[in-house]
Amino acid sequence: MTELSGEMIDTLIGKAHDMQQKSYCPYSHFAVGAALLTAEGRIYTGCNIENAAYSPSNCAERTAFFKAVSEGERDFRAIAIVGGKNREIGELCFPCGVCRQVMSEFCRRDDFQIITRNSAGTTVIRTLKELLPDSFEL
Ligand code: THU
Repeated sequence: MTELSGEMIDTLIGKAHDMQQKSYCPYSHFAVGAALLTAEGRIYTGCNIENAAYSPSNCAERTAFFKAVSEGERDFRAIAIVGGKNREIGELCFPCGVCRQVMSEFCRRDDFQIITRNSAGTTVIRTLKELLPDSFEL
């Protein structure tokens, strides 16, 4: 697993925070932003998009993945995620189970890095394997 530079981690967290400002979250008021890094160094961003019927809501991580995959991307290195009220960074924000499963479709589990940071500036990095052990595969 190749380590990301501190500069790249800061860039991804910054873009994720920018995406909190685009979040459509009138029901939970919890804004999440994500920035997905491809193996070739391109960055795709996403925010959560809620819906009055609740279940059609989409998480920030899946928005970023679906934007990237729909543009032909298949090789991913890392994703940064931040979330909180008032469109600010709050507690550490780890991906939900559904998003972890979507990641497992497209990412090498030993390699792919999930990065989150809280308002105090603590950064936590986990591999997909750590967050989704013994995952379902066909
Ligand atoms: N949410 C995300 O976008 N990503 C996560 O990792 C956790 C939850 C969204 C879904 C919903 O719009 C809001 O946060 C509150 O659950």
